[in-house]
Amino acid sequence: MKKKLNVGMIGYGFMARAHSNAYRKVNNFFDLQYQPVLKAVCARDEAKVKIFAETWGYESVETDWRKLVERKDLDVIDICVPNNLHRDIALAAARTGKMILCEKPLAMSSQEGAQMVTAIEQAGVANMVWYNYRRLPAVTLAKKLVEEGRLGRIFHYRAVFLQDWTISADLPQGGTALWRLDVAAAGSGVTGDLLAHCIDTAIWINGDISRVTAMTETFVKERKHNLTGKVEPVGIDDACAFLARFKNGSLGTFESTRYARGHKALYTFEINGEKASIQWDLHDLHRLAYFDHRDEGVLRGWRSIHVTDGEHPYMSQWWVPGLQIGYEHSFVHQVADFLDGLAKNRPASPTFRDAQETQKVCDAVLKSGSTGQWAEVV
Ligand SMILES: NC(=O)c1ccc[n+]([C@@H]2O[C@H](COP(=O)([O-])OP(=O)(O)OC[C@H]3O[C@@H](n4cnc5c(N)ncnc54)[C@H](O)[C@@H]3O)[C@@H](O)[C@H]2O)c1
Repeated sequence: MKKKLNVGMIGYGFMARAHSNAYRKVNNFFDLQYQPVLKAVCARDEAKVKIFAETWGYESVETDWRKLVERKDLDVIDICVPNNLHRDIALAAARTGKMILCEKPLAMSSQEGAQMVTAIEQAGVANMVWYNYRRLPAVTLAKKLVEEGRLGRIFHYRAVFLQDWTISADLPQGGTALWRLDVAAAGSGVTGDLLAHCIDTAIWINGDISRVTAMTETFVKERKHNLTGKVEPVGIDDACAFLARFKNGSLGTFESTRYARGHKALYTFEINGEKASIQWDLHDLHRLAYFDHRDEGVLRGWRSIHVTDGEHPYMSQWWVPGLQIGYEHSFVHQVADFLDGLAKNRPASPTFRDAQETQKVCDAVLKSGSTGQWAEVV
């Protein structure tokens, strides 16, 4: 008999769908002691939230997140709302002793993030942040290869996250679907939205970053605001590129923009070590490119590993070797790891404390972007 874990979901957008799908599938593919139960979902529009509840199988709805958080029949609060709500919901949920799963970025700033880490650690409740790219089998394999020392000393870490959906100057900012362009809801632009993913993966694989120097740009300076109807200044960074020094002595370059015409979600990273290199590309997410200098000279070259074998991370739980899985499975894996961690009393990463490290790097990047100086990660 599995132990039930009653989930209270806040939000019914993109991530609420990705997580709901993961909760529903996880016990079909992973053998776990715990089983999520879709107990309640909360959003402000009652008619729409009821449709969402019906579609995904939630037992009840709420329209006020404070009411949801106070409910006695929930074990976990899952925060899938814009970034400006993460802190208040997490602090309220921690006060009620509930576990918290929070979407990334953890917070609007590292100051807010620190409050959240303190609250959750004082409450002593299980917690995790949805940096889901860690759970794509090819990315997990990259981490494993680096950990095993196959690359030797790491010299370079290079990451890029490119999109092209905000180029039109007519696109408004704020409100449903466009909160990412509103600094009051998002906290920052590509830095917190896209580079946060790159930074999380980088720290996970290559260790902490000590200092950064960044340039940021806002190409469209004013946009109509959907909530006020007025043309208002744009406060987010449309593009950001930064150099980083890792604590292990390696050098990092990171670039993100929503103005790279032709790119929808091009997240790539490359790691160059003394003995070998790795490349990964979200558009081809089940493959990992690997070059090993120790290969025999005539055969030396980039291998394209189809990460679908039973020996590859997570893959023994899915189909048969050679059949690939996709984006949504990273969320299934993350839930599986969280539930497994609960059973074994071994927190799944990234915890709020782990995610706060990314928040600190984002703060340093934005600071450097505005001062033009190197900034320490503190
Ligand atoms: N892990 C990832 O790869 C990934 C991808 C996309 C988004 N995110 C993060 O997930 C979070 C949500 O993003 P999204 O893309 O799902 O956004 P979305 O716009 O699709 O959905 C946001 C949801 O929040 C709800 N909401 C807003 N204010 C609310 C309130 N006061 N009370 C209750 N509900 C409220 C909206 O109704 C909507 O359902 C953000 O923090 C974002 O950064 C992470």
